[in-house]
Amino acid sequence: MRKLNVVITGASDGIGLAAAKRLTELGHSVVIVGRSPEKTKKAAEGLGVPYHIADYSRLSDVVRLANELKNYDRIDVLCNNAGGLQGERTLTEDGNEKTFQINVLGEFLLTRLLMDKLAESKAKIIQTASIAANLFGADLKGDDFQNEKDYSPFKAYGYAKLENILFTRELDARYKDKGVCAVAFEPGVVRTNFASESKGFVRFCYHSPLKYIFTVSPRKSAERMVWLALGEPDKDFKRGEVYSKKKIMRLKFNDSDGISGRLWTYCEQVLQNLL
Ligand SMILES: NC(=O)c1ccc[n+]([C@@H]2O[C@H](COP(=O)([O-])OP(=O)(O)OC[C@H]3O[C@@H](n4cnc5c(N)ncnc54)[C@H](OP(=O)(O)O)[C@@H]3O)[C@@H](O)[C@H]2O)c1
Repeated sequence: MRKLNVVITGASDGIGLAAAKRLTELGHSVVIVGRSPEKTKKAAEGLGVPYHIADYSRLSDVVRLANELKNYDRIDVLCNNAGGLQGERTLTEDGNEKTFQINVLGEFLLTRLLMDKLAESKAKIIQTASIAANLFGADLKGDDFQNEKDYSPFKAYGYAKLENILFTRELDARYKDKGVCAVAFEPGVVRTNFASESKGFVRFCYHSPLKYIFTVSPRKSAERMVWLALGEPDKDFKRGEVYSKKKIMRLKFNDSDGISGRLWTYCEQVLQNLL
């Protein structure tokens, strides 16, 4: 088995941390990225792996992170896993709606800034999407990527997770000639620190004993990420797709309107001074 160099964002906790643990146990070289310096340091020390810190609500952090990650010899797998459900609509210091920036713009920026290294390594790029793309995001239309109209935390999150899937498709189509492959997965309903920054029923469900009734463990869920990280494109999975367990997840959203291309252009415009 070839030893892989794997970078996982959002790996100070939850699904990312569980996947980092499993891949390390299997003998791969893992680098973890987290937001909280204390949590990330502790997690990295527990695994014996290098770590980096970035808060995606500051795009300058993402740029610094990319510069740090460029120092590794190769990146065989990049898992864009950082993200989550937010609360009321707020703008980041960069002027973007927070859900969109943390879940979509951050991974777009990191991936694009690392593209030379990823292409050199013939890398696989894995996005952590969500069933929320179908539950709350299927009516995405127009160009309101910053969720200015009819904001709700769930809708913004559902759109962001659908946008992770659209990004995966575009990324794969645009960069497969350079040897890069993109794929996404939905991790199930997982008892992690998810929704800790939101309020109400969902927060209650994830952070009360109720969670043992309807969630799976991070370790179980992380198997989905690990399967894609170790799998071979076009043999084990279809590139550009989104998976639920080992099956392609059918999307309720129909991109007949070409939103994925417009989303790509929009992200490039918003990030033009940083790309
Ligand atoms: N849990 C579920 O049921 C579920 C379902 C569908 C999809 N997902 C997705 O799975 C991914 C991982 O979530 P999880 O369930 O493992 O939740 P988690 O335990 O809360 O972990 C989230 C990870 O993302 C990091 N993160 C959060 N906000 C960030 C920010 N502003 N900048 C940079 N990093 C940030 C966290 O860093 P710190 O801990 O250091 O703050 C942590 O490492 C997310 O993309 C989430 O949307 C989860």
